[in-house]
Amino acid sequence: MSSIGFVKYINMKTEPPGPKARKVVEETTRLLSPSIARFYPLVIEKAHGALVEDVDGNRYIDLNAGLGVLSVGSTPSPVVDAIKKQAEKFLHFSYTDFYYENIIKLAEKLVEITPGSWEKSVYYGNSGAEAVEAAIKLARYHTRRPRMLAFSGAFHGRTMGALSLTSSKTRQMKGFSPLLSGVTHVPYPYCYRCPYGKTFPDCGYFCTDFIQHEVLDKYVPAEEVAGVFFEPIQGEGGYVVPPPDFFKRLEKMMKPNGILMVDDEVQSGIGRTGKWFAIEHWGIEPDMVLIAKGIAAGMPLSALVAKKSVMTWEPGSHASTFGGNPLSAASALETLKMIEQGKLMENAERLGSQLMKRLNEMKEKYEIIGDVRGKGLMVGVEIVKDKRSKEFGIKEVERILDYSWKHGALLLSCGKSSLRIFPPLVIEQDMLDEGLDVVEEAIKRAAS
Ligand SMILES: Cc1ncc(COP(=O)(O)O)c(C=O)c1O
Repeated sequence: MSSIGFVKYINMKTEPPGPKARKVVEETTRLLSPSIARFYPLVIEKAHGALVEDVDGNRYIDLNAGLGVLSVGSTPSPVVDAIKKQAEKFLHFSYTDFYYENIIKLAEKLVEITPGSWEKSVYYGNSGAEAVEAAIKLARYHTRRPRMLAFSGAFHGRTMGALSLTSSKTRQMKGFSPLLSGVTHVPYPYCYRCPYGKTFPDCGYFCTDFIQHEVLDKYVPAEEVAGVFFEPIQGEGGYVVPPPDFFKRLEKMMKPNGILMVDDEVQSGIGRTGKWFAIEHWGIEPDMVLIAKGIAAGMPLSALVAKKSVMTWEPGSHASTFGGNPLSAASALETLKMIEQGKLMENAERLGSQLMKRLNEMKEKYEIIGDVRGKGLMVGVEIVKDKRSKEFGIKEVERILDYSWKHGALLLSCGKSSLRIFPPLVIEQDMLDEGLDVVEEAIKRAAS
């Protein structure tokens, strides 16, 4: 019997990890790289929509969309059918050397849905980090400038270039230096814990003034900067949402200096926040948009969509054998269709506002909820020891994740002590509510 009363979707047959799961975890430890840090030992057997079953027959509600990838849920039939159909035609014929059609259809769609009415070009890779690498190279190539700006708390991936822009956790950096030269990190507008100790809106956007007066005017000559890389909502860094005018102010500083605005939408894009791309909430049009995760329902694919006038690199300057794989492209075309025709962005907006309402009510009830923030179905809950000290609730987050998992809700954390709630966009209200009932019980217990 569940501790939260009647449940419709969750079905826990044994306390996880069950016997079959433990065996897989043991074999994983024996054979696979130890560099991967997992949240808890969940071993998947199958998944459909926003429900996941483990190898011991337990059924869970997915509150993390396979780390933001499963925007249209697991194994959606239209996507699976499109992949099967494409698989019978051809599996691979590298677009670095030959041509095929479905990546063109996809590029047309990406050009249409990304912000900016100018002409655009698309480069395909396989992962978020690859899109970031491509953007670093293109920014340098196009501008012939060596430097880049990025934000503290950022996560852009783990390949050497992307890692050089990343600054969310030291354990991701430790042992890998020297990284790419020419990267300067500036503070991100994390208003709940303002790096300058100020309060919004009285601060008057000190954070953007700081970039101008303390960075560009003093030690990073603007004419040497190729691009500024940013996440419109910091993901790994804690689901941090910048204040309303932040990106307009940033753009005003960068554009006149010829500094490219590079928008990393790997986690926040493809409808998750109720718009195709999160940056649309701030009304600016970046020079490059980086897309991965939610674009192809779990098939590996990433895209760099840039202004055509910026994508000036020559033949042979950049490519990847597997980038733009035809199965991934078939999957992406169907995924985008599902988001549009199924009105999933509207769903994200509607469920997201219900979610924020419930979490804000919970914030009133529980001393350990310090902040609730987000857009659409990209919502963070910062857990603290108590509201006054704002001390990070690291142990509390561990307990909340563990309880939630053991009681059927697949919840993840981010930042130092935040919960992130980012279910598939296809999730229904009653399923989300049931998942949240578990999370609320977990918070209640962690608070007591
Ligand atoms: C904003 C952002 N950029 C880039 C990446 C790297 O993507 P990948 O893990 O596919 O290389 C991630 C991954 O979490 C991300 O959240």
